[in-house]
Amino acid sequence: MTIRLLTGITPSGTPHLGNYVGCIRPSVADSKKPDTESFYFLSDLHALIKVHDPERIEKSRLEIAATWLACGLDPEVVHFYRQSDLPEVPELNWMLNCVSPKGLMNRAHAYKAKVDANANAGEDLDVGISMGLYCYPILMAADILIFNANYVPVGKDQVQHIEMCRDIATRFNQTYGKDIFTLPEPLIDEEMAVLPGLDGRKMSKSYDNVIPLFEGGAKALKEAIAKIVTDSKLPGEPKDPDSTALTQIFDAFATPEERAGFRDQLKLGMGWGIAKEIVYEKINKELSPMRRKYEELMGEPEKVENILAEGAARVRPLADALIKECRDAVGLKRYVPVAKAKPEKVKKKTKPSFKQYKEGDGLFWFKLNDADGNLVLTGGGVASGQEAGKAIGKFKTEGMKAFDGMTLQLEPGITEEIIEEIRTQMVD
Ligand code: TRP
Repeated sequence: MTIRLLTGITPSGTPHLGNYVGCIRPSVADSKKPDTESFYFLSDLHALIKVHDPERIEKSRLEIAATWLACGLDPEVVHFYRQSDLPEVPELNWMLNCVSPKGLMNRAHAYKAKVDANANAGEDLDVGISMGLYCYPILMAADILIFNANYVPVGKDQVQHIEMCRDIATRFNQTYGKDIFTLPEPLIDEEMAVLPGLDGRKMSKSYDNVIPLFEGGAKALKEAIAKIVTDSKLPGEPKDPDSTALTQIFDAFATPEERAGFRDQLKLGMGWGIAKEIVYEKINKELSPMRRKYEELMGEPEKVENILAEGAARVRPLADALIKECRDAVGLKRYVPVAKAKPEKVKKKTKPSFKQYKEGDGLFWFKLNDADGNLVLTGGGVASGQEAGKAIGKFKTEGMKAFDGMTLQLEPGITEEIIEEIRTQMVD
């Protein structure tokens, strides 16, 4: 069975090294696995929660799309699209809203952090909290469930959202008594899902501690690494490798042997300056071919646009099919013509009847049909039509005797009694 893998990245800023290590690089690697159908998208609807600056959204969408492509995402192999190009996502979002308990959203980390910050600042608890932020996990669930993804590669900070997605999917399935949604699993690289920033806290724009991925080129990379916080031990003094984020950042790009070597060197007194030089060289070696590709794409935005539009066109039929199932499940089916019972054909009660005709031989003949129109008798063979007509007239009162002296042939299975019965029907 093909495994469906899906992940989104929110274009709210310029991609940094943390995005690369925590999301882009593992996702690109995963996308190359056999038997995997991968969905990668720009969660630009999510971006509207945090960013109300349209220019920044536009810039970030392009930068992030170019970044993923430069980092090796192959749009021929994976589905690469923008969330906002799929109107099915907000439609599913609404249906999910209607089964998602408010209490579940109250427990979301991102929301709780805001409430706590408001409490600490002595503010009203709701200050600065939009419904978009509050319902963020439900939109994310829609992203995942619209394609019934099996695995979602995410940072540790997003694991709660996947759990909420499972919860919401289960409720929907149970509410409507249908197994429409598959429950997704988070896929976390346990070792280093969250890359620390310059100051050791999670690398994040909001902490202003990021190392840019491509922006500013090699020079900016070098300058940012120089700013990673260390203690003030001098070269030659033994150092604690875990006293700085530098080691963890190096780890994210190094083999196990290189990691061990780096630690040993620090313990033996390697200076921070040299250590930073090693880290820069290591990272730059991995990034520089990608940086060239990135710059190329940034110079051709229409190329990126076409790739994303094609990606959306490819997945929309899947989204459509799922939405149809959901609509049917919740009671938003399309009306179909109600099958009207056809009135029973009332059988016309016809009477048995004679038909007269002249044959090619010049003789006159007649046929008798019963009330259902079946031929029962052929007779005649007489020289005049009048003679035949008279005999037919007499049949009503005299029965078969009226045809004495004429050629007469009863159809198979027809007896004189049946003819007699037919005659009485002709009379009354
Ligand atoms: N919330 C994710 C982030 O900020 C982005 C995202 C949106 C996402 N929808 C998703 C990730 C669905 C995985 C699956 O990084």
